[in-house]
Amino acid sequence: MKTIVSLENICKGFIDGGSFHQVLDKVNLKLHQGQTVALTGPSGSGKSTLLNIIAGFESIDSGDLSLLSTNSLASTSNWLDKQWSQFRRQHLGVVFQQFNLLTPLNVRDNISFALSLNQQQWNPWCDELCQQLGLNELLSRSVENLSGGQQQRVAIARALAHKPQLLLADEPTGNLDEQAGMQVMALLTQLAKQTNTCILMVTHSDQCAEFMQTRWHLQQGQIIETHLAQDLAPSEASSALDKNKTNLLANK
Ligand SMILES: Nc1ncnc2c1ncn2[C@@H]1O[C@H](COP(=O)(O)OP(=O)(O)O)[C@@H](O)[C@H]1O
Ligand SMILES: [Mg+2]
Repeated sequence: MKTIVSLENICKGFIDGGSFHQVLDKVNLKLHQGQTVALTGPSGSGKSTLLNIIAGFESIDSGDLSLLSTNSLASTSNWLDKQWSQFRRQHLGVVFQQFNLLTPLNVRDNISFALSLNQQQWNPWCDELCQQLGLNELLSRSVENLSGGQQQRVAIARALAHKPQLLLADEPTGNLDEQAGMQVMALLTQLAKQTNTCILMVTHSDQCAEFMQTRWHLQQGQIIETHLAQDLAPSEASSALDKNKTNLLANK
């Protein structure tokens, strides 16, 4: 499986109220083509910071971030703004809790605008996306008049229109009711499978996390993979979690 994102010993902290607060403490992870991962963790644990680092919106203090660009995994340490924006336009889709659509525009123009940034035009995949997302009847509607679930489906179409290799989603169902949230999750995973897009999704919902193959938990600056523990019997699970906890402490 092709690795598309690799983080090695990533550290990131912020000055908060005059003191330094370490948010990510030597984080190591790899994401592979087509892999789907749910990222959970307490509020303030650094989930959004991690996504922002992978998208190049936030710098790192130390460590190395490598991304798949022009067929090979390359360190981003020397990337200038130009390389970052090229990577984002070609290879990255993002979906936020707040839908972040261009509100004066209609559905079709929101999707076309995102494509135009990558010198692409409306194509048969856009028709397919809109059909599967149930947006065909809404294409000429202004996005501000749509329901939350509809707006998030537009945001998904916009994020996947250029068939990115990586989709970063930060609590994509956070503003939706349960039914709309589950629908969005089902569509998102189904569509990403068709384009072999890797998804890294922050969520607080166990139900949403279950749509992803892998589950990572971010706590005390480090990532613990927890999905194995869930597949085990309760006694084994608790010993696996203890082991993870021991690893976590040993890595500190
Ligand atoms: N730009 C920033 N300046 C200062 N502190 C920040 C900044 N971004 C995030 N933080 C702090 O880093 C920690 C992690 O934030 P965040 O990644 O948003 O957490 P999460 O998404 O897990 O809730 C929080 O304590 C937050 O206040
Ligand atoms: Mg967050």
